[in-house]
Amino acid sequence: MLPLNVLLVLTFALAEVFSAPTQTPFQVPATKPRQLRGRFLQITDMHPDPYYKVHKSQSKACHRNKPKKKKNRSHYYGTPYSDCDSPFTLTNFTLDVLDKHWAEEIDFVVWTGDNARHDNDRKLPRTPSEIYDLNSVVAKRMEKIFSSRGIPVIPSLGNNDVWHQNILTPGPNSITNEYSSIWKPFIPFPYHQVFQRGAYYSVEVVPNALAVISLNTMYFYDSNKAVGGCLTKEPDDPGNLQFDWLQVQLKLYRARNMQVWLTGHVPPSSGNFFPECYVRYVDLSLRFQDTILGHLYGHMNADHFFFVEAIDLEFDLDQDSRAISLQNGDLCDALLEDFSTLPKSSRTDLDNYGVINVSPPVVPNPYLPTFRIFSYNITGFEASPVGVLKKDRKHSHHRGEHGNKDELCKDEPYRSSWKCQLNSTWQADPDSPSRRNQLWSPLGYAQYYIPDLAEGNKTHQPHFKLEYTTYSPLDLHPAAAEEDGKFVYPIPLGNLPKSLRKGPVEKSKYTPYGMRDLTVGSWVELARRLADGKENKLRKQFREFMYMGGE
Ligand SMILES: *[C@@H]1O[C@H](CO)[C@@H](O)[C@H](O)[C@H]1NC(C)=O
Ligand SMILES: *[C@@H]1O[C@H](CO)[C@@H](O)[C@H](O)[C@H]1NC(C)=O
Ligand SMILES: *[C@@H]1O[C@H](CO)[C@@H](O)[C@H](O)[C@H]1NC(C)=O
Ligand SMILES: *[C@@H]1O[C@H](CO)[C@@H](O)[C@H](O)[C@H]1NC(C)=O
Ligand SMILES: *[C@@H]1O[C@H](CO)[C@@H](O)[C@H](O)[C@H]1NC(C)=O
Repeated sequence: MLPLNVLLVLTFALAEVFSAPTQTPFQVPATKPRQLRGRFLQITDMHPDPYYKVHKSQSKACHRNKPKKKKNRSHYYGTPYSDCDSPFTLTNFTLDVLDKHWAEEIDFVVWTGDNARHDNDRKLPRTPSEIYDLNSVVAKRMEKIFSSRGIPVIPSLGNNDVWHQNILTPGPNSITNEYSSIWKPFIPFPYHQVFQRGAYYSVEVVPNALAVISLNTMYFYDSNKAVGGCLTKEPDDPGNLQFDWLQVQLKLYRARNMQVWLTGHVPPSSGNFFPECYVRYVDLSLRFQDTILGHLYGHMNADHFFFVEAIDLEFDLDQDSRAISLQNGDLCDALLEDFSTLPKSSRTDLDNYGVINVSPPVVPNPYLPTFRIFSYNITGFEASPVGVLKKDRKHSHHRGEHGNKDELCKDEPYRSSWKCQLNSTWQADPDSPSRRNQLWSPLGYAQYYIPDLAEGNKTHQPHFKLEYTTYSPLDLHPAAAEEDGKFVYPIPLGNLPKSLRKGPVEKSKYTPYGMRDLTVGSWVELARRLADGKENKLRKQFREFMYMGGE
């Protein structure tokens, strides 16, 4: 018998000769599915910059000129609180840390876009091929670190991943074509055709149970002047087509009793989205609240969360005051003001809210590099791996009162708004995973950052440290972990700071929010606390996390 390696060589040679698709005859037996860890990574806005140089001027995007003042020079691992993008030392270091300390601890990766440098240097304009090259380099690393271990990676398209910046015409086009090739390892085969058309797709990260939908927010983003913005009179607008597709996905997943995360680059706020795209997003978020676990976005380069609300589907005749307040001025103040308008707890109907989580970026522009590790409930999964959620859901109900709609919707211009067209029933259920902690419910996240970024040099690496978590301190050492020795720590002990590693503590600076879980009610409660006049300390911390001490 021929030795195995000779056979392999022969097989490949033959395959080449006939150049027909062949199945590798000596495949490793299919490994059994990885055991769930109950955690996933969100990483966003890496912005690697091949022109970044050390000791150059921050005002020249860290590309050239050596400033006299030392403090104005760029640093080896990236320049905190600056307008400069990431050197490859930083993106490589970040990915190395994830490879070494996190890859074995997570189930999937939500990767929300912007893997090319900003267009911030007139002397060095970006080109399409540079953008694709940068994306390819990062995608290959992601594949090697995660896909090779059987960990699904779900990328989405950023506004800096396209040329020109922010502009994307309806697909198929050269851009959707390029990404369908760069992201080939990540996009399930059945979605390739849809991806060519719109650069959106979906991945069952736990087959038959849990999915992540990657949206292409470029068709909703109001800076994209190449699209119409989801107008009702343009059914073929790419934004409308994407919402039509999303609605079908959500219906199918719901019918299969599955749960989904919605993910993308530009967060769905009235300040970012075309008004009519925003209406459709809010409608679907609330209509499928019993199926959507949460909404994960990037782009803003500032740590925060906000709500999409039923009231956004009504007409506000005194202008859209909410939209304006979120667009101008200080984001933190605007959010706190918005939170202060939340109704008192006894009067809050949680059916009316969806929670948008915005992760800060890897690029230290303008703060410090970060990533997030979410945890979610996997209790009971092994016991009954399919069809685990109860079938008898609460009856869906028609959306509450119609406010001023009945009158206004009789005439233009109101009549042709989606606000007047969307009248399907909402499927909200206080007993669904987005509302009550159970299998698949999001439990919390831990955010890591590099406070000593500027100190890193050729011989000394900087350090990723825990910045904060949403958990309450006692939950970091769940009693169940001791009992059966099984892995149920929300954060693996080895990745906790020393002060938290040994055992339960009552209080910690790392647990400012002390949230039970990340259900809709928990976020509304946090927002209400933040808006409370007496909670100065909490508000200060919220602001500090948002700007990382910068501003
Ligand atoms: C140096 O940085 C300071 C802020 O740290 C800034 O005010 C000043 O304009 C910078 N100088 C130059 C030459 O860029
Ligand atoms: C980053 O990693 C890539 C390999 O993925 C390597 O080719 C490149 O030289 C590294 N760059 C730096 C600056 O470390
Ligand atoms: C919902 O709107 C459609 C038109 O978009 C209309 O045909 C239908 O009758 C409406 N249904 C309800 C229950 O109002
Ligand atoms: C997960 O959900 C179950 C109910 O299904 C609950 O008993 C358990 O406490 C939850 N786990 C965590 C870590 O919150
Ligand atoms: C690098 O940083 C370390 C620690 O901050 C410092 O001790 C060392 O002198 C630095 N090396 C160089 C070459 O600047």
